[in-house]
Amino acid sequence: MFFGKKICVGVCGGIAAYKTAFLVRELKKSADVRVVMTEAATRFVSPLTFASLSGHKVAVSLFGERYESATAHIDWARWPDLIVVCPATANTIGKVAHGLADNMLTTIILASTAPVLFCPAMNAEMYKNAAYQDNEKVLVERGHHIVRPAHGELACGEVGIGRLAEADEILAEINFVLHRTGQLRGKRVLVTAGPTHEAIDPVRYLTNRSSGKMGYAVAEQAAVRGADVTLISGPAHLAQPPRTRLRRVVSAREMYDAVQELMPDSDILIMAAAVADFRPAVSASQKIKKDRAGLCLELVENDDILQSVAQHKGDKLIIGFALETEDEMARAIEKLHRKRCDLVVVNNPLRAGAGFEVDTNIVTIIKRDGTQKELPIMSKTEVAQAILDEIQTLL
Ligand code: CTP
Repeated sequence: MFFGKKICVGVCGGIAAYKTAFLVRELKKSADVRVVMTEAATRFVSPLTFASLSGHKVAVSLFGERYESATAHIDWARWPDLIVVCPATANTIGKVAHGLADNMLTTIILASTAPVLFCPAMNAEMYKNAAYQDNEKVLVERGHHIVRPAHGELACGEVGIGRLAEADEILAEINFVLHRTGQLRGKRVLVTAGPTHEAIDPVRYLTNRSSGKMGYAVAEQAAVRGADVTLISGPAHLAQPPRTRLRRVVSAREMYDAVQELMPDSDILIMAAAVADFRPAVSASQKIKKDRAGLCLELVENDDILQSVAQHKGDKLIIGFALETEDEMARAIEKLHRKRCDLVVVNNPLRAGAGFEVDTNIVTIIKRDGTQKELPIMSKTEVAQAILDEIQTLL
């Protein structure tokens, strides 16, 4: 996710500092990470922890014996693509808002041109204090980024706002700040994701193994590129991607209606959902009892959303997915033409590392002009980026 990126993590003195160890570990999987701590932070977590996790010396003191040069803070300030302050205390946020530079972290921030992302964590009353709120506002006005704290149980035993945001939320924001390009600014993108549930009776349904991960990744990355994104999701257990609108649906018919409603206001449709092809002809109003010899379900076909939308597509772009377990390319090309797609993303869930529930996928992107791009195994985020790259060439 952050391959080739240089991230400086600033740790302030708060109990949430221990959570930053997990964040550094996650970042380090793909980025080069250096950690700078305030003196107070070292009371909570040892610099050795962060040195071990980041693989670099940790900076603490402006004048410590750790530096050969008196301008080490400038080297640190020039180095990163992004500075993440986590946890950010009210004290450090106040100092940065007022341009103070009395320790290594605040000096680096003042001297750096890299974007800065603050992840505040503090007691609820401190957070709500007008002085803090004013300082936070100053940071936002200056173009800094904030991942606001969550509501919940705080280290002091009180319940309220002030808990450090969850790591996933912080990682998503880091992704946004590092990758935002604006390439899709002004484009309205409609993405469908997940399976659909086709009710048999009030407690049972027909569905498939789609997790929604692919569609959610596409929606998230389109938003990172500045698009106005609406995600129509079938039942999935995933968090709403940041900066997207989410419309939840259950059945194929509900998804059909939502797409029809939102399509006139969209420029691009990306149908990543695994829409059920059939539904029970009758959905029983009461739970079906097993007091009979056998049960035969009559199924009727659901309307094809992609095909119906494509009939009036005009200059909109329509992207389909093709899930095939055999003869993938020929079938996908046939689908591309039958469903009048501009581009089809083909995958075979039987291949190891592809398909449902896993975080990776192996796809081939086929365009209307017949060109095919076969991609190696990639994370679903990277696949989403590759699909959006192709969409941009079509635009
Ligand atoms: N799709 C759709 N409406 C449906 C079924 C599928 O819009 N009722 C879309 C999917 O979201 C996907 C594409 O059509 O983008 C292809 O889906 P897939 O399941 O691979 O193909 P089907 O058309 O369902 O054909 P088959 O199941 O016979 O392979």
